[in-house]
Amino acid sequence: DGPEVSGHGHLAAGAGGAKVPSVSVADLTGPRTGVPDKRFTLTATDARMKLSSSAEVDAVVFNGQLPGPELRVREGDLVEVTLVNRTRDVPTTLHWHGVDVPNAEDGVAGVTQDAVAPGKSHTYRWVAGQTGTYWYHSHQQSSVQVRRGLFGPLVIEKADPGPANLKEFTLAAHVWDTDKGEISSLNSYDTLRRETVPAGTPVRIRLVNSDNFLKTFTLAGVPFKVTALDGNDVNAPTELSKVKLPLGGGGRYDLEFVMPAGPVRFADLAAPDAGLLITPDGKGELAPLLEAPDFDPTRYGSPRPTPFGPGSDFDRSFQLILDNKPGFFDGTPYYLWTVNGSVFPHIPMLMVREGELVKVTVVNRSFLEHPLHLHGHRVLVLSRNGKPVTGSPVWLDTVTVVDGETYELAFKADNPGVWMDHCHNLEHAAMGMTIHLAYE
Ligand code: C2O
Ligand code: CU
Repeated sequence: DGPEVSGHGHLAAGAGGAKVPSVSVADLTGPRTGVPDKRFTLTATDARMKLSSSAEVDAVVFNGQLPGPELRVREGDLVEVTLVNRTRDVPTTLHWHGVDVPNAEDGVAGVTQDAVAPGKSHTYRWVAGQTGTYWYHSHQQSSVQVRRGLFGPLVIEKADPGPANLKEFTLAAHVWDTDKGEISSLNSYDTLRRETVPAGTPVRIRLVNSDNFLKTFTLAGVPFKVTALDGNDVNAPTELSKVKLPLGGGGRYDLEFVMPAGPVRFADLAAPDAGLLITPDGKGELAPLLEAPDFDPTRYGSPRPTPFGPGSDFDRSFQLILDNKPGFFDGTPYYLWTVNGSVFPHIPMLMVREGELVKVTVVNRSFLEHPLHLHGHRVLVLSRNGKPVTGSPVWLDTVTVVDGETYELAFKADNPGVWMDHCHNLEHAAMGMTIHLAYE
């Protein structure tokens, strides 16, 4: 028989007395005891939902909402979330996208837990060790379930949450399969949403791309700052005015500005009617900005330090070549999405040891962008297309590698377990572009 778990939660000697590394089960799970600081229940149900235009969606939702309710916790909180599955036939899980939780709390069906069957529940417990804008979503058949609504925003506030009059909007950009076809929206608003905010008020937009594929956003009518990338604060953010904001599937931006005397418009360029119009007085309209250069996230580093000291070297280096090849999916000819020429589950696991410094070079040779999402570890961007990132370190959990691009990434192997890493164009993940990272 295999390794046993002792009363102290350590893996004992394996079969034949072979030495198994002493991994503590306590390192792989969140705290099992202690009164949680924040406790939530997310109940999944099937529901017919209406967007603001009145187009209808056959959805699967958390707590009857589309997207699911925003979970808001404070840095350092012990968070407990119980997933209750009241769907007819949708086994599901909860994954905390971008939060480096212990492995057993990661919610990946088939890797860290079984999917929670209809009628059953599962409780997740983890400590909010990082601040910023994150999201949660199903990680069982996620290309279908996330698309249909099993997701919601997750905000981890700083001890100092900012000015008392700060006005926040959390927006999830999503495409719904409705009775009127595919419709893009920000939350469930696929019509222009109007909000009134008095001039002089500080405003923060927390933007999540909960959909597949790169979207490009504009914020017009006011100079603004990008204050966080994937939840990581930007060091001394500069004021921007004429830029477009590309954001890959799964990624997040925090944007901040002070409400001006005129209207402000925020929109996905591909769906300008689903935008947000904020006015100081309920009047006015602005067309979204069309011609502007792209914001380059690799130029905006964070104060979070790197894991490297002077002269540190990598213990492991991997190269991931992202590409496509013709194949079959459910019997139909289709493009398969490959890593180093193979599709999941035939791609060898990346093996690391705890404490190692790991370098991952990602090359996109296909004809579409791939937002590579790593579970359990944020990554440092070392270079983009051969250009080293100098200045403050850039940390991301979802790295959108556009076709033809090469990124060099690095992380410290400091969160033991078996982790799924994949393209966050979730249908690409389902059709091959999924790998695993495991600790030896
Ligand atoms: Cu947001 Cu593996 O996912
Ligand atoms: Cu992809």
